[in-house]
Amino acid sequence: MSMNLELQARTLIRDNNFINGQWVAAAGGRRFAVTDPATGKLVADVADSCPADARAAVDAAAAALPGWRATLPKDRAAVLRRWHALILEQQDALAALISLEQGKPLAEGRGEIVYGASYVAWFADEATRIYGDLIPQQQRGKRMSAIKEPIGVVAAITPWNFPLAMIARKIAPALAAGCTVVAKPAEDTPLTAIALVMLAHRAGVPDGVLNLISASRESAVEAVGEWLADSRVRKITFTGSTPVGKYLARESANSLKKASLELGGNAPFIVFEDADLDAAVTGLLAAKFRNGGQTCVSPNRVYVQRSVYARFSTLLSAKVAELRVGPASDPASQIGPMINVRAVEKIARHVEDALVNGALVLTGGRRLAELGPHYYAPTVLANATSRMLLCNEETFGPVVPLFAFDTEQEAVQAANDTPFGLASYFYSQDVRRIDRVSRALEAGIVGINEGALASEAAPFGGVKESGYGREGSKYGLDDYLSIKYLCQGGLE
Ligand code: SIN
Repeated sequence: MSMNLELQARTLIRDNNFINGQWVAAAGGRRFAVTDPATGKLVADVADSCPADARAAVDAAAAALPGWRATLPKDRAAVLRRWHALILEQQDALAALISLEQGKPLAEGRGEIVYGASYVAWFADEATRIYGDLIPQQQRGKRMSAIKEPIGVVAAITPWNFPLAMIARKIAPALAAGCTVVAKPAEDTPLTAIALVMLAHRAGVPDGVLNLISASRESAVEAVGEWLADSRVRKITFTGSTPVGKYLARESANSLKKASLELGGNAPFIVFEDADLDAAVTGLLAAKFRNGGQTCVSPNRVYVQRSVYARFSTLLSAKVAELRVGPASDPASQIGPMINVRAVEKIARHVEDALVNGALVLTGGRRLAELGPHYYAPTVLANATSRMLLCNEETFGPVVPLFAFDTEQEAVQAANDTPFGLASYFYSQDVRRIDRVSRALEAGIVGINEGALASEAAPFGGVKESGYGREGSKYGLDDYLSIKYLCQGGLE
């Protein structure tokens, strides 16, 4: 990254909590380090929050709620539009900040800014379309209607893999609906989220409407625990792992908070013999290697029909071997470092386990220690089987295991043989098969001859243990609204 870009990124760095429109240090005075995954160098020290900080954030959000929910939808939309414009104005600096703390190549970071901002623009428009219903009359003298109201204070807990997009797609619908927000970004990447909240304030989001606290891995459970126990928080929205999602659902059950949980996946990618194989390779590269494989919708298991297995593996491995790995500072990098040492260790463990159980390395299959401790080579493994760890857990890295299958039924059965159901993909040119398989796959999202699924206009979310709730699209606001039934009598 050029010195100039890094300097731009640094203009956006703030290192304290943002509560009630003020930058405040953590009540306990503690801080924790945010480091660059490419170099291990310190980027900033930020507030390490405790329950008192979490409580102060809810106090502010609860106090701001009556005023914000009473604003006109078109006024909330105007604030969101200004926020959208400010995000795009800062595209380069924000992308550089993402690269600094998360490691994704600059071009991908720039893409994430546009992607994240698109949710802000989308929900600015949706704010003005929150309709209710006048229910067809059932009795003379009585009028029944249903109106939609903001659910209240929302707690948003977000992951490190898309430090801007994931928090934008929670905060934007919450604000559009008239809710107020307390947010906690992932400990690996709090800086982009803090910058985003600063821009929201500049755009005119009033004091207390949007509050953010940062917390280290060690402090997060207690800080978030405060929100879970607080009955003023009416909704939890979370993107992250399934075990944490289950914990949040259990703990928020005491006060029956509404929850949206976008959790782990184990995405299947099926290549049928009637597929356009070049298109399937292109789609797989796009889906698998975006963010170095660190996405919940990243294909984790690639099923290839036996008759085209050899040809597909050759085509794919040749392309994967060409991928350039390196730091975000090198404009030629297509894959950056993994987020932390735990992530690389998990990838290495999955590959070792696969090799012990009979997999064959077609390309990659090793750490790239010469680049740094967080790098792993883009990898293709042949002869994958259901016994291997990488078939049963999300690898969350640049590893493609290839499984062979014979029949459509076998492929669909294997694809569905997982507790998870977020994304799935298949390639086929047979229209009847396309219809059958898209309906048979147990997933919230199906990519059909397409590897790039993300869009603010589409409902993003899973089934089974990948969670519930939808983000984006016309459905995305529902999670932040409750329906009130009004029954008015004595009208005759
Ligand atoms: C995720 O990894 O959770 C989200 C990916 C996306 O928005 O495409």
